[in-house]
Amino acid sequence: MTTDVSAHTHAGAGAAAPPPEAVGPLIRGLAVLRELAVQEGRRPVSELARATRLARATVDRVLSTLARIGYVRVEGREAVLAPRLMELGNAYLAACRLTDLLGPFADRLADTLDESVSLAVPDGDGVRFVHQAPRRRAMSLAFRIGDLLPAERGAPGALFAGAWGKREWERWRERRERDPDDTGFPVVPHGNGDAAATFEERITAARRDGWSLDDQLIEPGLVAIAAPVRDAEGRRVCAVSVVSHTSRHDTGSLRESVLGPVRETVQQMEQALATPVTGTSVPPPVAADASWARASKHALGPEFVESLAHGLTVLTAFGHDHPGLSLTAIAGATGLTRATARRALITLDHLGYVTTRGRLFAPTPRVLGLGFSRLAELTLPQIAQPHLVSLVERVHESASMTVLTGNDIQYVARVPTVHIMSVNITVGTRFPAYATSMGRVLLAGLPRQERTARLAAIPLAALTRHTVTSPQHLAAVLDEVARDGYALVNEELEEGLRSLAVPVRDRHGQVVAAVNVSLHAARSTPEHSLAALLAPLGEAAAAIERDLHVANRYTSVSVT
Ligand code: PHB
Repeated sequence: MTTDVSAHTHAGAGAAAPPPEAVGPLIRGLAVLRELAVQEGRRPVSELARATRLARATVDRVLSTLARIGYVRVEGREAVLAPRLMELGNAYLAACRLTDLLGPFADRLADTLDESVSLAVPDGDGVRFVHQAPRRRAMSLAFRIGDLLPAERGAPGALFAGAWGKREWERWRERRERDPDDTGFPVVPHGNGDAAATFEERITAARRDGWSLDDQLIEPGLVAIAAPVRDAEGRRVCAVSVVSHTSRHDTGSLRESVLGPVRETVQQMEQALATPVTGTSVPPPVAADASWARASKHALGPEFVESLAHGLTVLTAFGHDHPGLSLTAIAGATGLTRATARRALITLDHLGYVTTRGRLFAPTPRVLGLGFSRLAELTLPQIAQPHLVSLVERVHESASMTVLTGNDIQYVARVPTVHIMSVNITVGTRFPAYATSMGRVLLAGLPRQERTARLAAIPLAALTRHTVTSPQHLAAVLDEVARDGYALVNEELEEGLRSLAVPVRDRHGQVVAAVNVSLHAARSTPEHSLAALLAPLGEAAAAIERDLHVANRYTSVSVT
């Protein structure tokens, strides 16, 4: 299927000819990312070539460049979005500040009302979510940060459309004609002609009332009320929505019970928005800078498209407490020349990924359309899996990830080798934490008080002749593990089995999981295993952490 998402969010994208300074490879690279994002975040490379109408060799070069940056993986014949790509959406979210500043208020409102609350911004003739405080209820579908709704479906759109000009209305009508069933919006159930038919009426009501209702415009049962939030200059920068279900509220009772609290929250949000920005004046250098691109070009030759890498680097320069950046600041942060940065910005502006305000550039919500919501679905085991596969290919031993469940470790990811092990482990398998390397890493990562309390409560049975069963001894071992950053356990869970584990930490330094390599004890000495395996295992954990920290910035990543 060819879904041209470019067409329904930004006037001119795909239609108007690019300005002469525009960077072709950046246009093509973004087209590939968009096509990858509209499906499940995974597509055959041949299909990508068809959908983008680019030559296969061009798509291959784009993909090898994106793979080098860490934004996609190529697995056999398929290209897959990778978590690192979320750094582009993170840059937009950090720069727009709405999630950071207003998210806590939305969370509090959700707690107070015990209903889902979201924040959404206008994006062309659509509405894009920038925050979700969900109350998980099985009955209705839940949106994620980055998801896009047609403006006529849902409560926030009628608030934003009140400010539409001729151009926006033209774009809306054109899209309605081209795609009456909303197939270009993968997250909404197809087609609701009523939503379009009542749109103007609802815009008028929203203008009059200052709030807007969604009476099952998205799907049967789903009702919502939204109110606009204005910045210091009076612009409607986002909408806060409270989402409920007809089993709890009709639109009348929803309005009666939540409009008061919503208005109070909006007032607090507007105060927060009026507080001046206190960022430093120079953004810190970004990771994927110009010198990295040069080195990659050197390593990959024609399979690395430098101008695509440069253009994407420009997007990552945003955020860091800076709502907008000058050309000079962007060039400084990325290490690019002003001329290169300028051409990238002209291209991104043409495609609707940045806007200008005076002399400052800022990313747009459209950046979230580059796979953000797809990737926001990933769990920690899914993030870890490709890194564990690489680790196993490197060390030729089985690798796993576990989390702490009570006094046990529980496997959440596992990549076995062909070696026949006596232990039969699958995802879900549990072992006592105290006798395993991953368990010791997880116990050592607990706050000291909790660790002590946990140790006192665990019965320490001798599972083999080697199992540590003295609480004092185990406490000393855990101190060592905490100090060294790894645990090596030799034949304490099972005779003949050796395992080396290291922690996986979240952005705050909290240990959330452990990864290990396990092997036959008879094949080498413990010293030799440590010398051979600690570095590759540590690198795999670091790669998992890098992805997790990007994914975790604005979305919660499930550890199971
Ligand atoms: C949501 O956040 O899920 C939501 C918001 C507004 C709507 C419907 C759903 O109208």
